[in-house]
Amino acid sequence: MLILGIESSCDDTAAAVVEDGRYVLSSVVSSQDMVHAPYGGVVPELASRRHIEMIIPVVEEALSKAGVTLKDIGGIAVTQGPGLVGSILIGLSFAKAVSYTAGLPFTGVNHIEAHPHAAFLIEGRAEKEVPRFPLVALIVSGGHTTLLHLTGFTEYRIIGQTLDDAAGEAFDKVAKLLGLGYPGGVAIDRLAKEGNRKSVEFTRPFMAKGNLDFSFSGVKTAVLNYVKGHGLATGPEAVKDLAASFQESVVDVLVGKALWALEATGASDLVVAGGVACNSRLRTRLTEAARDGGFRLFIPPPRFCSDNGAMIASLGYHQLKKGAFGTLDMDSKPTWEGF
Ligand code: KG4
Ligand code: ZN
Repeated sequence: MLILGIESSCDDTAAAVVEDGRYVLSSVVSSQDMVHAPYGGVVPELASRRHIEMIIPVVEEALSKAGVTLKDIGGIAVTQGPGLVGSILIGLSFAKAVSYTAGLPFTGVNHIEAHPHAAFLIEGRAEKEVPRFPLVALIVSGGHTTLLHLTGFTEYRIIGQTLDDAAGEAFDKVAKLLGLGYPGGVAIDRLAKEGNRKSVEFTRPFMAKGNLDFSFSGVKTAVLNYVKGHGLATGPEAVKDLAASFQESVVDVLVGKALWALEATGASDLVVAGGVACNSRLRTRLTEAARDGGFRLFIPPPRFCSDNGAMIASLGYHQLKKGAFGTLDMDSKPTWEGF
């Protein structure tokens, strides 16, 4: 069964065609980074306007790259939340309109629940090892830092989440502070490679032993206070050292809590997704931890870590198989209550 997946919850307009929840026939993402860069963060009104411009061309491109038309599609999956309400409305209304006119079933997908499904995606026909349930998923992006315990494709429990800033948000805010532009995660990652991780010992907000929630606003404030106190007068080397030290503090906490989550649930597979899962230091540290700790690690390629339509189509397939159809009613309940 071919599913058309549509994603518009934040600042990427994305669509994909995926077969049987696994085989990616096409995945198209139109990034809005250039639109928001001058403002140092996502401007919701601009994001909505850009989605309106891009939604039709992006979906058309996804269909044409897959070599199919709407007649070949078996169902539509669309992000229903959480995210920016104006942005979500564009994708959701568009999906409902296509579903109505083409007579296709549709299903509303929880964006955070969809992220780990990127680990099941296969491009081309070569089979690969995929995660087994039960598993732990660490979702780290600009909008969320969440630990999920998944016992099936559509069965999950939230076991930890951020109490304040998301990990990516902390990366972006610290990057802004260091004058590195937006989005700043990639810039910190790049500079940190040349910096000394031990130059400044920033706080590691683990909270109590075994606590699976996150809090990154303290680290961000610690960097701010450091910069206020010392300045960046010592030149570019100081920025590299600060980037490396900040990154190490965030990575320590993410890795530490992922290990606690595996221990607490008894799961032996860890999936990591979301934009921050592109971070090279996080990937290295998790790979080392998996080797030493005897768990199986799955981190999708960067194009499926960040927001995309394929992960939405993948989860949507399993929802439709279960009969979780969305309705066109205005008062239909969102599937993402509780987030
Ligand atoms: O998942 P995503 O594309 O969008 C959502 O926020 O849902 O994640 C974007 C976030 C941004 O905060 C960005 O700075 C961060 O992911 N990011 C990174 C890296 N690449 C992207 N953070 C750290 N290191 C990276 N290499
Ligand atoms: Zn996301």
